[in-house]
Amino acid sequence: MKSRNYLALLLLAGAALTQTVSAQQYEAFHLAGLNLAERVCATCHGPNGKGNPIVGGPRLADIEPWYLRNQLIGFRSEFRGTQKDYIPGYEMQDSVARMSDAEIEEVVAYISSWSASPNAPTITGNTNRGSELYVSCAACHGIEGQGNEALAAPGLTEKDDWYLFRQLNLFKSGYRGSHPEDQWGQQMRASVGVLETSQDINDVLAYINTLGS
Ligand code: HEC
Ligand code: HEC
Repeated sequence: MKSRNYLALLLLAGAALTQTVSAQQYEAFHLAGLNLAERVCATCHGPNGKGNPIVGGPRLADIEPWYLRNQLIGFRSEFRGTQKDYIPGYEMQDSVARMSDAEIEEVVAYISSWSASPNAPTITGNTNRGSELYVSCAACHGIEGQGNEALAAPGLTEKDDWYLFRQLNLFKSGYRGSHPEDQWGQQMRASVGVLETSQDINDVLAYINTLGS
């Protein structure tokens, strides 16, 4: 990548901390020669989608294309990210709100070429207790956390644990999975009740961190 573009991306990443970057601003930075995924998504999800914990954009490298598509359509349909007091989700929603179907297909195809080393675990918990809690999750996410496309349940390994921690809390609070047309989110929301405390969430994520390696 040209250093000028790299500098522009750094500036955009900084801007994203405080405000949402509009399409016009991308044009102003002369990033038009780059693929949409590099131009827009990498700003908050890191180069090659390796994740950006400061902005809160999770790792997208190695994400299943069908799950990526589901989420982009879901954000666009306001299944996720409409609550203004949860800024990471709100910024993501605003970033895809005006994307066309063709643009979604373009980024899904491009991001499937992204690969990066998984980030280091950040959560500690009791993996024995986590394995007991995980029994109910395995029905949909698979014994090895590999996911199940037929059930629309994504793989849970090689994802940022800090991001999964947030998502489990969002499902619990109803910030995710409450929209009446969000059938997959609703199924997940109905399943998260077994995780009663933050410690339960830490324990199950500590166990998930042991899977898939
Ligand atoms: C302004 C910053 C920003 C931009 C630009 C952005 N995202 Fe995001 N994205 C986020 C944040 C923050 C989250 C986490 C939201 C949450 O915590 O619920 C997120 C979440 C996601 C998720 C959910 C991941 C999962 O495992 O459920 C997907 C998929 C995603 N983004 C894809 C994209 C794609 C593709 C693009 C480019 C078209 C993009 N994002 C552009 C900030 C951004
Ligand atoms: C009935 C099937 C089902 C069960 C049981 C289930 N899930 Fe899910 N889960 C899903 C589906 C479907 C999604 C995708 C929701 C969407 O598209 O927004 C999901 C999404 C998730 C996500 C969000 C992933 C991301 O990248 O944003 C996490 C984390 C998760 N599940 C963890 C768990 C854990 C932990 C358990 C056990 C306590 C569990 N799930 C039980 C079906 C299930």
